[in-house]
Amino acid sequence: MNKAILIFCTLFAGLLMFTSCGKESEGGSTGGGEAKLSTNGSSESHNMGQNCMNCHQKGGEGEGWFTVAGTIYNQLNNSPSANGLVELYTGPNGTGKVAYTIQVDARGNFYTTENINFGNGLYPASVVGQTRRYMPDAVTSGQCNSCHGSSTHPIYTN
Ligand code: HEC
Ligand code: HEC
Repeated sequence: MNKAILIFCTLFAGLLMFTSCGKESEGGSTGGGEAKLSTNGSSESHNMGQNCMNCHQKGGEGEGWFTVAGTIYNQLNNSPSANGLVELYTGPNGTGKVAYTIQVDARGNFYTTENINFGNGLYPASVVGQTRRYMPDAVTSGQCNSCHGSSTHPIYTN
């Protein structure tokens, strides 16, 4: 191989490595890692009822660093409730405005990596069909299943 080609190849290989490494470390404007967002009808999620952020966080093994995630169950708490919504209000009991809406997927899970500004706290609500259930207190963390299904009952609908 002639010297000029050799140098060119070395530079080119270096450039390739540089761009692919650049991609890996790029956090983007989301919660970091890959952008993921649950949608009604999708079924890519798993581990219903577990605290998703045990794994889906910076340094965790899960794909996507979630800012809000959890699971909604049926009234009997024995089966996930599919395709509803989670809303985050600025005020209690549906007052203020809906700051964020996240669709619940076909497995009853909801998750997002978008940047959520919790401010002094947002009030979650679950929406399934015509039924809205309001959490009486505000949250400043989107790790819904860290309490629900652990220190309190799962998020459920009726
Ligand atoms: C014990 C660790 C762990 C927990 C807990 C966990 N995940 Fe994951 N998750 C993973 C890993 C690892 C992957 C990537 C490999 C795979 O798809 O299994 C992943 C992948 C995913 C994907 C991406 C699938 C794709 O192909 O894009 C979604 C969506 C997801 N998880 C949602 C959730 C939700 C919602 C929860 C909570 C209800 C959750 N995960 C809890 C480890 C976890
Ligand atoms: C710090 C713990 C904690 C976190 C985090 C949390 N919750 Fe709650 N949530 C509670 C408690 C406690 C109640 C009230 C239970 C009761 O009085 O029956 C509640 C009630 C609710 C209710 C009212 C209906 C029901 O199932 O009792 C909804 C809906 C709800 N939470 C959704 C959410 C969502 C969505 C998230 C994540 C954005 C979340 N919660 C995060 C502790 C928490």
